[in-house]
Amino acid sequence: MGPSRDSLPLLVPAVVALAALMRLSDGKLELKVSQPSVEVMFHENGLLQCEIAELTGSTLSANNLGVLWAFTSDTGNSKPFVYMHGVINEQWKEAELSESSILSGNMSLLLKSVTFKHTGQYRCDVFISPNYKASKTIKLEVLARPTVTVVSEKIVEVGTGGEMALGCQLSGYYPCDSNAEWLQSTPSQGETKLLTDICIAPPVKNPDGTCNVTTEVRLEPHVEDIGSTFQCRVTHKTFSEPYLVTAFVTLKAEIRLATGSIVGSIIASIIISVAVIATGIFLYMRLYYKVAPEVSDIQIPARIVHLEPAEIICHVSGFRPDVILVSWYLKTCKDSGKEFIGDWQKDNMVRIPFVTDRKIEISERIETGRGWKVKPGISQKNGDGSFSISSILEIYPDINEHNKAEITCEVSHPASSEVISKSICLQVEGVAPKLAKIIGPHIVHHNNSVVLTCPIHFFKPRPLRITWYKEMNGKKESLLKLSESKDHFYSNKYSHVANEFSFSDHSHSVYSMLFFNPTIKEDDQSEYFCEVEHISLRNPAKEQIKLQVKAFPSVNAISCEPVNPVIEEKLTLSCKVHSFYPETIIIQWLKDNKVIEGAETSEVILNLENKLYELTSSCTIIPTLLERQSKYKCQVDHQSLLYPRFAEYTPENLVSFPILSEIVCNPAIPEPGKELTLTCDISNFYPEDIQIDWFRDEMKVNDNPKYGNIVEIPSDENGLYKKVTQVTLTPSTDDHQAEYKIEVCHTKSSTKPLKQCFQLFFKGSPKFSEFKLEPENPLYGKPLSVYHSVCGLLHEKITVEWYKASEHVKDGVKISGPVVTHENTYKIDSCLNFLVTAEDFERELIFQFKDNTKSEVFKRRIQLPLKAVVPKVTEIKCDPPHPKKGGNATLTCKIEHFCPVDIHVVWSKGWTEYKNKQIVETPKIDAKGLYSTITKLPIVVGAGSEEYTCEIRHTKTNDIVEKTFILQI
Ligand SMILES: *[C@@H]1O[C@H](CO)[C@@H](O)[C@H](O)[C@H]1NC(C)=O
Ligand SMILES: *[C@@H]1O[C@H](CO)[C@@H](O)[C@H](O)[C@H]1NC(C)=O
Repeated sequence: MGPSRDSLPLLVPAVVALAALMRLSDGKLELKVSQPSVEVMFHENGLLQCEIAELTGSTLSANNLGVLWAFTSDTGNSKPFVYMHGVINEQWKEAELSESSILSGNMSLLLKSVTFKHTGQYRCDVFISPNYKASKTIKLEVLARPTVTVVSEKIVEVGTGGEMALGCQLSGYYPCDSNAEWLQSTPSQGETKLLTDICIAPPVKNPDGTCNVTTEVRLEPHVEDIGSTFQCRVTHKTFSEPYLVTAFVTLKAEIRLATGSIVGSIIASIIISVAVIATGIFLYMRLYYKVAPEVSDIQIPARIVHLEPAEIICHVSGFRPDVILVSWYLKTCKDSGKEFIGDWQKDNMVRIPFVTDRKIEISERIETGRGWKVKPGISQKNGDGSFSISSILEIYPDINEHNKAEITCEVSHPASSEVISKSICLQVEGVAPKLAKIIGPHIVHHNNSVVLTCPIHFFKPRPLRITWYKEMNGKKESLLKLSESKDHFYSNKYSHVANEFSFSDHSHSVYSMLFFNPTIKEDDQSEYFCEVEHISLRNPAKEQIKLQVKAFPSVNAISCEPVNPVIEEKLTLSCKVHSFYPETIIIQWLKDNKVIEGAETSEVILNLENKLYELTSSCTIIPTLLERQSKYKCQVDHQSLLYPRFAEYTPENLVSFPILSEIVCNPAIPEPGKELTLTCDISNFYPEDIQIDWFRDEMKVNDNPKYGNIVEIPSDENGLYKKVTQVTLTPSTDDHQAEYKIEVCHTKSSTKPLKQCFQLFFKGSPKFSEFKLEPENPLYGKPLSVYHSVCGLLHEKITVEWYKASEHVKDGVKISGPVVTHENTYKIDSCLNFLVTAEDFERELIFQFKDNTKSEVFKRRIQLPLKAVVPKVTEIKCDPPHPKKGGNATLTCKIEHFCPVDIHVVWSKGWTEYKNKQIVETPKIDAKGLYSTITKLPIVVGAGSEEYTCEIRHTKTNDIVEKTFILQI
C-alpha cells in the first residue's frame, strides 16, 4: 500500500495528537532521532530512525503502546504505519517495522526501494496510555542523479552565417532543481566563456516522478572560434561539484562557392516577401485577436471527507489575450446568498516565447477565514497562441456546514461581456468508526469484577451511539445505550467508562469499557455485543465476545473420623469441596505427595441455593505410629484454577488405647499380717500421658498410706508406652473382703477411665454380707433396722456383737443362728433395732465377729446415711414483756431441731457484743430425734428504744440464723 489516498480511506491526513484525556504525569517519555533529515537515492532503502531514548514511570507492553507514523507530502497525507494495543492497523507494503522491535523501544521504520512519492515529512508518534506521548519529525528526500547526454553536430563550418545548436539533455533526475550551462573554451584566446544565448525548457516529469530537461544553446561561430571546445556544466544536488560533459563538435573553415546567381537572388527575395506577409498575419492572429474562454465543469475529488483538505479545479481554456479573473463562491444550505471565497487574476504579459506549451507559475494566494484558499493556478500557452489556466480551490469542508453546499467558479474575460459560471454541489462524508475486537477475558470468574473494552477507532465527526447488549440462549437483553446527550442503563449491574482520544486530523477513538460482576446464572455462555451507530455507517457496526463463567472450588479443612485417630485402626478422612462451576472436577488424595489409589469420591451435587456444585470426598487409611508426620492432601483440580488447590492433614494426634492386665496378687492367697503386692500392667498406650489411681473400697490409696504403697515402673515398646503399677500392703482382718480397684485415665484416647478390681479374701475366713438398712433411708426420730449376716462358718463357737462407736449395744439386738446351711457350714443373721437420733449422725455402727477358737476379731463398719439439719430459731421474747427503765429483764430465744450438736450463739445490742452474760443451755434430743436448746440474755433496761440481736451459727452446715428484738419503753 502506497501513500495513495484511495487505498487509505480511513487514515487520510493525520498526525496523532493526544486527547485532553491523557494528562501528563510525573513520568517521562523521550524519543531519539539521529538526523532530522534523510536523503536516500531512488530505489534504495531508507531508514527513518525513531527510538525511545528515555522512559520513566511506565513500561512498554502491547496493551498500553501506540505507534503512529504519519506522512505528509505536497500531494497528500497518509499513515505508513499504525500500531495500537497489540494490533498493526495500517502498514504500507514497502514499510517494515515489527512488533518485537516496537516492544523493545525501536520504532524505526524501514522503507524499501524508495521512490519520489516517499519524499516528505514523516512523523513518529509514540504514546503510552494513559499518560505519555512523544513525537519526532524526520524529513525524507529521495534523490536521483541525472543522466547527461550532449547532442551536437559533428562538424560545423564557420563563416557561412550558419547557426549551430548544442543540446544538453538531463534525464531521470530528482529533485527537479538543476542547472545546465554551456561553456566555450577557446585555446587560442586562452579563455573560457559562459554562453548566454540559451534556451531552457521547463523540466518534463517522467511517470516515475523524475525529470528530464534540455538546455539548448544556439550560436553563430566565427573564424576565431575554430578550435574551441564546448562543455555542458551540470549542477545538481546529487553532484558534490559541477559535472562536465564535452560535446564532440569540430569547427571547420568554410568552403566558398565560386559564382553567385542573380536569378537565385530574385527568387529568394520573393520568397522572403511572402514569408514576411505571412508572418505578419500570423503575429496579428497570435497577439491581437481576442477569443473568449471556455469553462469546463468543475472537477472535484471522488470523495470529500469531513475536515480533510480537498482540491476543486476549474479549467478555463482557449482564451486570448492572456488576461483572466477566476472567482470562487460558496453557498451553504443555511445561507440565502453566496459568499465570496477568493479569486485568482492574471494580467497581460508580453513575451516572445521560445517554446510553445510553456507553463508559467503564478504565485498569488488568496486566504479565507476558514482555511480555504485559492491556490496559484497553472497557466499554459497553447500551440495556437491561446491560453489555458486551471484555478484550484483548496477547501477544508465541515460536514455539519458544507454538506450539500454549492461551490461556484466564475470566470471574467475581456472577450466576453458576461461572466461565465459553473457550480457544483458538495457531498461531504464522515469517516466511519473502525471496531477492533472486544478486549476482555473469555474465561471469567463467578462474581469477580470484569471489564470488557470495545475499541472504536478513527471516526469523524464526533457523535457516536454505543449500545451494549448481550445474548444468552437466543434471548437478547439491552444493557446500556450511550449517546452524546444521554446514557441509559437498563440494569444497575453494569457501569461504564468511556476513554476518548482525539487526533489532529479531527478523528476520534473511543474505548468503551463495560464493568460488571458476571454470574454463572446470568452470564455463562453469553455473548456480549458492542454496537456502534455513526453518520457514516449505513448499518450499525458491532463486535462480540463470548464469556465462560467459572467458579473456583473452595476446599474445606479435612475432617477425620474418629476425631482422635487410633494407631493401626481405620481412619476416614473427608474433604468437602464446594461452590464450583462447571461440574467437572478432579479430586485426588495424596500421601506425602504420592497418589493414594482407590480413594472414594462421592457424587457431585448441585446446591440449589447458589446453583454451584459441591461434593465430599473421603479416603480411608490405616495410620501407623511412624506415619504421624505424613501429610495427607485432598487435591482439587478444576478448569477455573491455574494451580490445584488442596487441604492438608497430618495425623499428629494419633493415639493408642491402654490395655490393662488383671490385677495379680502376690502371694496368691493373702493372709492377715503378711505383706502382699497387687500388680497391674498397663501397656500399648500412646501418647505417654496417663493417670493411674488405686482405690480401696472407693477410697483413694494414694492419699492414705495405711491402705498401701504405690510404685510405678514405666517402659516402652515399639514406640508405645507401658507402665507396671504395684500396691504393697500388710493386710489386717479389716482388709478381709476389701476391694482394691485400679482406674486408668488416658485422656488423649478416651475420657472414660479403664478399671480393674481385686477383692482380698483371707483363706478360711467367713464371708460377711453387706449391711442392710430398713428403711433404706433412715430418718431422725424414726425406728431403723440394720441387718448383717455371716456365712461360711466352720463351727458354732462364735460371738457376734453390735457397737455404736465404742459403746456396746445390747438393746434391740436380735441374733438368729448359727444354723447349718446346705453347704455344711454355719450361717448367723443379726439385726439391730433402734430409734435414730441426732447422736447417730456420723457415728460408726460396728458389727463385731469373733471366732472363739481363734484370737482374730473381724469388724464390719457402717455409717448411717444421715443429713445435717439446720436449727429453727423462734422470735426473741422479753420477760417481763414491758420492763421499766432501769429495771431487769431477760431476753429468750429457742433454738430447735438441729443436728449435729455444735452451734455458736452470739448476743449483741446495737454493735456491741455480749461476751459473758449470755446463757446457752446444753442441747437435748427432742421429740423429733434432733437437738433443741434455749438461749437467754439477762439485761438492764436503758433509756429509749434498743435493738438486740441473737445470731446462731450452725458449725456443720455453716448456716447463720439471726433474730432481732427492739425493746420499747
Ligand atoms: C532499530 O531498527 C532498525 C531497523 O530494523 C535497525 O536498523 C536499527 O539498528 C535498530 N536500532 C537499534 C538501536 O537496535
Ligand atoms: C526523458 O528522457 C529519457 C531518456 O532520454 C526518455 O527515454 C524519456 O522518454 C524522456 N521523458 C519524457 C517525458 O520526455
